Amino acid sequence: MLADLDQLLDWESLRASAIEVATLAYCPYSRLQVGAAAIVAAQDGTLRRITGCNVENASYGLGACAEVTLAGQLRLTGGGRLVALACRSGTGELLMPCGRCRQVIYEFGGPDLLVDTPDGIHDMRWVLPAAFGPEHLPP
Ligand code: THU
Repeated sequence: MLADLDQLLDWESLRASAIEVATLAYCPYSRLQVGAAAIVAAQDGTLRRITGCNVENASYGLGACAEVTLAGQLRLTGGGRLVALACRSGTGELLMPCGRCRQVIYEFGGPDLLVDTPDGIHDMRWVLPAAFGPEHLPP
C-alpha cells in the first residue's frame, strides 16, 4: 500500500513546491527559510496541494513553523487528510519536521501520512514512533 501510493505521488514536484514557498518565509531572526508542501485527500476523494512557510516573531518563542502554517492552510482550504508531505529550505535542503511539528502533522495525517526523509519515503510510524494521537483521548 505504502509502495503503491508512493509511486503515484510526484515527489519531485512536491519538493519543488516546498522550496518555492520557503522563499516566502518571514525569518529575519534565524534566516532559515522553511517551506512545507503536502498532498491532501478531501472527503470527496479529490486530491489537492497545500503549502506553508515559517513565520517568525521578535518574541522568538512565538514563531510558527512551516508545518503549523500548513495546518492552517489545510483548514482554510476545506480540510481533509494529509497523505504526503515534504519540507525543504529555500536553498533546497531536505529538512525534517521538528518534534513539535511531527505531532502537528500527525493530527491531520495519522500513521499513514508519507514523509520525505533523508532515509527515503517513510510513513509516520517511522517519523513519530508510538505516537500520541486523538485515539488516546477519552470519548
Ligand atoms: N522550522 C520550521 O519551520 N519547521 C521545522 O520543522 C523546524 C524549524 C523553522 C522555525 C524557525 O523559524 C526556523 O525554522 C529555525 O528554527
